[in-house]
Amino acid sequence: MISEKLMKSLNEQINYEFYSAHIYLAMAAFCANEDLDGFSNFFKVQAEEEKFHAMKLFDYVVEMGGRVTISAFDEPQNDYTSMLDVFMKGLEHEKLVTQRIYNLTDLAMEEREHATISFLKWFIDEQVEEESTFNSIIKKLERISDNSNALYMLDAELAQRTFTPPAQ
Ligand SMILES: [Fe+2]
Ligand SMILES: [Fe+2]
Repeated sequence: MISEKLMKSLNEQINYEFYSAHIYLAMAAFCANEDLDGFSNFFKVQAEEEKFHAMKLFDYVVEMGGRVTISAFDEPQNDYTSMLDVFMKGLEHEKLVTQRIYNLTDLAMEEREHATISFLKWFIDEQVEEESTFNSIIKKLERISDNSNALYMLDAELAQRTFTPPAQ
């Protein structure tokens, strides 16, 4: 039996994952406007992943007999100074998400809610992936600096990214 407090926090995380998708769509739009379609594709796929995270939580709350409520989102940042700036903001956001997942897990542990602890384990592992993806692209962008040929090569690489729902 999940407490009301834990249910509320899970609900907040559903909304936060949708908000993450919202942020990444704003980044995708910025990249498209810079004619960097590969970068734009990367963020469109990233937004799909966030929606997948949200729906995974959504289904869990329903399965546990809770009530999902969808709230409004803040307006995401739409303008950036460079691709490096975009990815730095992305990494910052992912770190915030990681902290939120940790807080949720702490709460589930306090309440000895083992099913939820086990469920959240997937998100803990996923956040390691998320931060590592952003970190590695940041490293590449730092090396690229203002070499536009290298930037277009990375753009071509990011154009290859596709969304495949992770194994359950
Ligand atoms: Fe997420
Ligand atoms: Fe994420």
